[in-house]
Amino acid sequence: MSRIAIMDHPLIKHKISLLRDERTGTKDFRILIEEIAMLMGYEALRELPTELVSVRSPVAESMQPMLTGKKPAVIPILRAGLGMVGGILTLVPSAKVGHIGLERDEVTHKPREYFCKLPDNIGERTAIITDPMLATGGSAVQAVDFIKSKGCRNIKFMCIIAAPEGLERLKNAHPDIDIYVGCLDEKLNDNAYIVPGLGDAGDRIFGTK
Ligand code: PRP
Ligand code: URA
Repeated sequence: MSRIAIMDHPLIKHKISLLRDERTGTKDFRILIEEIAMLMGYEALRELPTELVSVRSPVAESMQPMLTGKKPAVIPILRAGLGMVGGILTLVPSAKVGHIGLERDEVTHKPREYFCKLPDNIGERTAIITDPMLATGGSAVQAVDFIKSKGCRNIKFMCIIAAPEGLERLKNAHPDIDIYVGCLDEKLNDNAYIVPGLGDAGDRIFGTK
């Protein structure tokens, strides 16, 4: 069964409300996306493995926990997922970064793949897929399919806003991944946009239309 964590921290809630506001411009939108990703990343990375190593303080030598194993991989779904990468890298600056380019067709709402590149040894890493929006779930399911096809088994999917339809689809298609959701919204509209949502995340991050 997927582990689904829906954020309940007041800081995250406040920042998501600011993100939704149509008056929030590109600069503040980018900053908020990154800050929310960092706060969510703190939760998502809670289980990174540590090992005890010897550390000498000015007072004494002792065994202390340090991160161990292969560096995690942050894998944004292009374009909008890119906005979340900096927030995770603030927490783990040495993380590797992969990219999955998917674009929803405006009519069918199905994702089309246009670029995919993952870090080496992805099978030995924790992968954190980032995308602010989980709408129909088509892009998320395809991204996880791709990462699994490259041998990765420890996968976390992080989104800022999810529709119930997309969350259901992702957890049914991939019951073995962990899913982190900033806020679970009400529904999808006829254009497969999340309601109330925040509009087109990619356009708001990059200032396009
Ligand atoms: C948006 C969003 C997700 C996808 C979600 O990307 O960032 O990747 O739609 O929709 P889904 O759950 O129905 O698949 P979009 O395809 O608009 O591309 P962009 O990030 O380049 O704007
Ligand atoms: N993609 C977005 O950017 N926003 C939505 O509401 C749905 C898909």
